[in-house]
Amino acid sequence: MDVHGGQGSPLEDVIEKFKNFYWLFTDGNGEPKYQKEIDRMILADQRSLTVDFMDLLLYDCSLASGVVDEPDKYIEHATTALLQLVSLHRRAYLERVGGRIHVRFKNVENQVPIRSLGSIHIGKMVQIKGIVAKASAIKQRIYEYAYECTNPNCGFTLKSRDVVALCPRCGRKMMVDPSKSLYEDFQVIVVQEDTESLPGSKIPRSIEVILSDDLVDKAKPGDKVIVTGIVRVRRERSAYSIFIEANNIETLSKEPEEITITGEDEELIREVSKDPNLIDKLVDSIAPSIYGFREIKEAILYMMVGGVTRVAPDGTRFRGDINILLVGDPGVGKSQLLKSVVKIAPKALYTSGKGSTAAGLTATVLKDKDTGEPFLEAGALVLADGGICCIDEIDKMKNEDRAAMHEAMEQQTISIAKAGIVATLNARCSVLAAANPALGRYMPNRPITENIKLPPAILSRFDLIFIIRDTPDKAEDERLASHILNIRAERFKAPFFNPQFIKKYIAYARRLRPIMSEEAMQKIMEYYLKLREAVSPDSPIAITPRQLESLIRLAEARAKLFLRDKVTAEDAEAAIRLMDYCLRTVAKDEMGRIDIDIIMSGKPKTKREKMLKIIEIVERLEKELAGQPAHKDLIIEEAEKYGIDKAFTEDALEKLCIEGILCKPKSGYYKKIR
Ligand SMILES: Nc1ncnc2c1ncn2[C@@H]1O[C@H](COP(=O)(O)OP(=O)(O)O)[C@@H](O)[C@H]1O
Ligand SMILES: [Mg+2]
Ligand SMILES: [Zn+2]
Repeated sequence: MDVHGGQGSPLEDVIEKFKNFYWLFTDGNGEPKYQKEIDRMILADQRSLTVDFMDLLLYDCSLASGVVDEPDKYIEHATTALLQLVSLHRRAYLERVGGRIHVRFKNVENQVPIRSLGSIHIGKMVQIKGIVAKASAIKQRIYEYAYECTNPNCGFTLKSRDVVALCPRCGRKMMVDPSKSLYEDFQVIVVQEDTESLPGSKIPRSIEVILSDDLVDKAKPGDKVIVTGIVRVRRERSAYSIFIEANNIETLSKEPEEITITGEDEELIREVSKDPNLIDKLVDSIAPSIYGFREIKEAILYMMVGGVTRVAPDGTRFRGDINILLVGDPGVGKSQLLKSVVKIAPKALYTSGKGSTAAGLTATVLKDKDTGEPFLEAGALVLADGGICCIDEIDKMKNEDRAAMHEAMEQQTISIAKAGIVATLNARCSVLAAANPALGRYMPNRPITENIKLPPAILSRFDLIFIIRDTPDKAEDERLASHILNIRAERFKAPFFNPQFIKKYIAYARRLRPIMSEEAMQKIMEYYLKLREAVSPDSPIAITPRQLESLIRLAEARAKLFLRDKVTAEDAEAAIRLMDYCLRTVAKDEMGRIDIDIIMSGKPKTKREKMLKIIEIVERLEKELAGQPAHKDLIIEEAEKYGIDKAFTEDALEKLCIEGILCKPKSGYYKKIR
């Protein structure tokens, strides 16, 4: 088509060109694309025609560059052209929509990162991408003023979108008549850079965007959006600030699309997935600078891919996201671990329970400090929608967050109704949280609920809870120390997979939807029933169908990592191993390791109490003997005082050794293992 014309073309020309574009532009199949779009718009009584900027560029690049460089003028011409076409035959439609229609542009070539927006963009059309961080309530404003002359002898009236100060007929002052003016909806949102595209751990920047008429309410906090619009400047108290007047807004899916997987990548991923040691290699590549934490890293790996989110026929949604809580003594590396997850997960953000933003973890309605307008502001869980939210020091979260956390973690939505704003926001993310023990250090003889300052309703939303205790152990301390020293000396072996590859691998595996096999279901069922049966009603760890669901999610995640469409018995076993590990650590610290072992093996309660007594005796004697192991006869003697007979004690001592609770440093002497 013709490419000349350009800046100097007279008004009628531009309008004619837009009319021709609507009428003549054909898509790849030779169909008149915009004729059809206009018909559809009229049929649905919609007020907007969306034009793909790429089509315009293809048709006439002078029109396209006009839209970017002089958007006010060109958008008006584009609208006039559309109005002229429509008003030929569609008077009734125009009346229904109040004579007001819009031309909206998507795919605008002038894409600008939010942090680069500046004075050179003022008055231009740009396209930005980000996450809606805040949204105001919807209000009404005048878009066309009805003026009336203040001179009673004149009485001249006129309608205008611009400010008219003086009467064009008599020169006196004009006055706005609010009841005759025309109003439109408008809303202010704040779009923030997406963490995916943030270089390093920079603080995200944001920009205000004004939505009007039918764009209002198209996006809510937490939504990922592409906005096209005109950059404008406004005086705010003593400073000028820029904002965007939106021409169009589109919401995008939450899958991280910044990660492109090429055919070559896919080949490599498929190859790697066949490795029988895949899980170990992936685990070793997670946070390699952090020593140990084998099980925790494995759990994090499963969390990153997640289970399968399923929607039942009645619309009930079963979350696939896996939530993990780390409770541990200070300085064991929890924060470090959380921060390194942000580097390898396809989409993750790090925040602290103390709250780095006023919106906290969930969402809040806040008053704008300049205008006093209420704004709905998204917190970390909403911004992490579709990814992982790493919450450090979750025990320090604010009271308002506590209330909303339950809903957020189970229903994966956050509902809010405050100051005229009613919304339900999506929080479909996994939570990886860390907490310090309530008493400073983890107290093994106190129940878990006393050790963790979180309401049980929140605790039970975690699929796995790990307890990390900082207990001195010479050999282990030495290994940790040399690991840390080696890293500082830059002597470390490179992990099997680099972070970029892991990111791609996880993004690839995440999309799969494996189905449970018969054998896997059998395994999980068996384990679950064993747990249910063994747990006493007064046990502080409730075994509920939640654990069953957790096992399914973990097993599904493992199957995804192997790129399988079936969850195998092996996957189920790995999930059981992890959960068992967690339950044991929790139970051990609850009331001595023996307890959960008895729970697992289903031994009667009285026997269990006798066993506990024997451990207690061994421990006490050890203390009395200044750390020396106690002789069997002495233990038997002490046990008899509690009515435990010799045969039982002898038997128990052997069993406790086999179970790894006691040890026999020399023949006939017993000691507790730490
Ligand atoms: N297992 C570990 N491997 C490597 N470094 C560790 C480990 N445990 C602790 N550290 C180091 O100790 C410091 C404190 O860790 P941090 O993550 O702040 O602990 P926490 O959040 O548990 O209190 C960090 O510099 C961390 O690198
Ligand atoms: Mg910390
Ligand atoms: Zn007048």
